[in-house]
Amino acid sequence: MVSDHFLPTLDYAEQLDREDSLSRFRAEFYLKPDSIYMDGNSLGLLSRRAERTLLEAVADWREHGIDGWTQGNHPWFTLSESLGELSAPLVGASPEEVIVTGSTTVNLHQLVATFYQPQGTRTKILADELTFPSDIYALQSQLRIRGYDPDTHLIRVKSRDGRFLEEEDIIDAMTDDIALIILPTVLYRSGQVLDMQRLTAEAHRRGIFIGFDGCHSVGAIPHSFSEWDVDFAYWCNYKYVNGGPGSVGGLYVNRKHFGANPGLAGWFGSRKDKQFDMEHTLTPAETAGAYQIGTPHVLSLAPLIGSLEMFAEAGIENIRRKSLHINRYLMNLIEHELADYGLFIGTPGEDARRGGHVSLEHEEAARICKALKKNGVIPDFRAPNVIRLAPIALYTSYTEVWKVVQILKKIMAEEQYKLYPNEREVVS
Ligand SMILES: Cc1ncc(COP(=O)(O)O)c(C=O)c1O
Repeated sequence: MVSDHFLPTLDYAEQLDREDSLSRFRAEFYLKPDSIYMDGNSLGLLSRRAERTLLEAVADWREHGIDGWTQGNHPWFTLSESLGELSAPLVGASPEEVIVTGSTTVNLHQLVATFYQPQGTRTKILADELTFPSDIYALQSQLRIRGYDPDTHLIRVKSRDGRFLEEEDIIDAMTDDIALIILPTVLYRSGQVLDMQRLTAEAHRRGIFIGFDGCHSVGAIPHSFSEWDVDFAYWCNYKYVNGGPGSVGGLYVNRKHFGANPGLAGWFGSRKDKQFDMEHTLTPAETAGAYQIGTPHVLSLAPLIGSLEMFAEAGIENIRRKSLHINRYLMNLIEHELADYGLFIGTPGEDARRGGHVSLEHEEAARICKALKKNGVIPDFRAPNVIRLAPIALYTSYTEVWKVVQILKKIMAEEQYKLYPNEREVVS
């Protein structure tokens, strides 16, 4: 393991690369020689293994036609379940508690349709004001479908500083009228990790179901959803899990809820042996598989076979160790090299509270990102003022991080960003 002290030199970055026990995985990714990718928290890069398993799925289609459901390299009929099994170690669950299906927002709809059970005066949903907008839209529409006004029934915990959430504030908001809590595992902007274990225990003490959006943590940090007794969780696989654009998402349901009827039912939620009986009464799978709706998007599942194999080999604890270390290294370098340029690190300093990226705040952030891209660095911008930089454990080198900070320093010193309008691009 790399040593913990810090030197700002290129020699030191190269030494850290030599000591990096995960460095062998870097060669498996398609990296461009003239560019440094810092956006793996938005869209992970393609690996050769993910490409191979995608092409194998295409070959199965070519070779087997309809029989690809049960034959070939990766039979499609049980692929969502097999990938659930491969994903389970990333979230700390047993294989039956995880299924790879749907997308983040669709899975949230499914889980809210199932676990939002308003009764008496317990009718409200608790979320937070920093969460990702799609989650809020989904919750608002779920409330409307049940005849509740989102303005009065969706409670959003406030942030004290616009950056972080305090667990105490969330717990204070767990009042008697809350039926369900939906929170992020890691905040998408600041990268703060919430204390999921504590929040789950506090929610359950008050008889409230709790679920987490794991988009910004799965593949970057370990979880213990089963041990913490989390009711459910959902996430995407296109960020840290490198499953490709629009890759199929994942969901976890605690085994204590097995046997409940899914809120949004469909035939792929059937017990596998019953599905093709074609009965008009659903017999739900006695696993998280019950929360599937329709036919799986096989070509968007296939890259995950190769990608998740890499996670099994690397180990999520090792990934977290490098991720924390390389992110700490990035923050050390920023503090050392960029102190004069008004860039504020808006990410928690403590390891236990930090996810997989570093947020830099600056009023010129949009055009600093444009200048970084012009200089071959791919960052990510989140309005109004955040530059997200994500060194990824499986494919980012310490030398690349060192170079990114040198490039950023030159951009700031020469005010190169002034060549660009301070407006966001369409996507990032
Ligand atoms: C935290 C979070 N939640 C939800 C979503 C929406 O995901 P999807 O578009 O896959 O439904 C995203 C997308 O980036 C996200 O980052």
